[in-house]
Amino acid sequence: MEVVIVPDSAAGGDLIAEAMADLLRRKPDALLGVATGSTPLPVYEALAAKVRAGEVDTSRARICQLDEYVGLPYGHPESYRSVVLREVVEPLGLTDEAFMGPDGTAEDVAAACADYDRALAEAGGVDLQLLGIGTDGHIGFNEPCSSLASRTRIKTLTQQTRQDNARFFSGLDEVPHHVITQGIGTILEARHLVLLATGEAKADAVALAVEGPLSALVPASALQLHPHATVVVDEAAASRL
Ligand code: GLP
Repeated sequence: MEVVIVPDSAAGGDLIAEAMADLLRRKPDALLGVATGSTPLPVYEALAAKVRAGEVDTSRARICQLDEYVGLPYGHPESYRSVVLREVVEPLGLTDEAFMGPDGTAEDVAAACADYDRALAEAGGVDLQLLGIGTDGHIGFNEPCSSLASRTRIKTLTQQTRQDNARFFSGLDEVPHHVITQGIGTILEARHLVLLATGEAKADAVALAVEGPLSALVPASALQLHPHATVVVDEAAASRL
């Protein structure tokens, strides 16, 4: 695992956007796995700026989602489908056809999970998966005690994660309890994993993931198993390393 310490989140965004741009120059139809939350926004802004400046052509790029809330109506502004379309797909000038994600509105959620897992493999696998990290060490929505071999499936959010994500909703009661997430085993199949963490609130989770033992209690520690994992942290998130 390579750990890169950057001065701030903007520098982290620039670094990862350049890695994505470099990948797209080598493989124009690369499948980029994107994460939601506040942390990766500087990455998407920096990549969109490169597109506007003509530094990279994303016209054949493909985007896939990491996770999704279960039960939010189609088009809900905080469904991760809506967030990824708004924050990534549209700014990069892509159409919905370039985008794939799990169906959080499906009646048969288990089937939707299996379908998505299969669709990722049939698409040739994820070339670069961007990850954030939860304050409890989760990646995607793989909460502590998730199997390190897990596949895309339904999960129940911890109270901590619901509280962390309540800021995107009108209140805690609005945050769904259930989600679909790529499993840790699914995530580990991506060719390159890039985890971005910024801010002091992530410092403990980063230290456990990077320097602690491999443990299902800290899902992000699974990156230790991956042959090509990069952890990009700002000074604050690196403060307990
Ligand atoms: C959610 C997402 C994760 C993300 C995490 C941290 O739980 N499912 O993919 O990493 O939030 O979000 P933030 O970057 O806003 O702290």
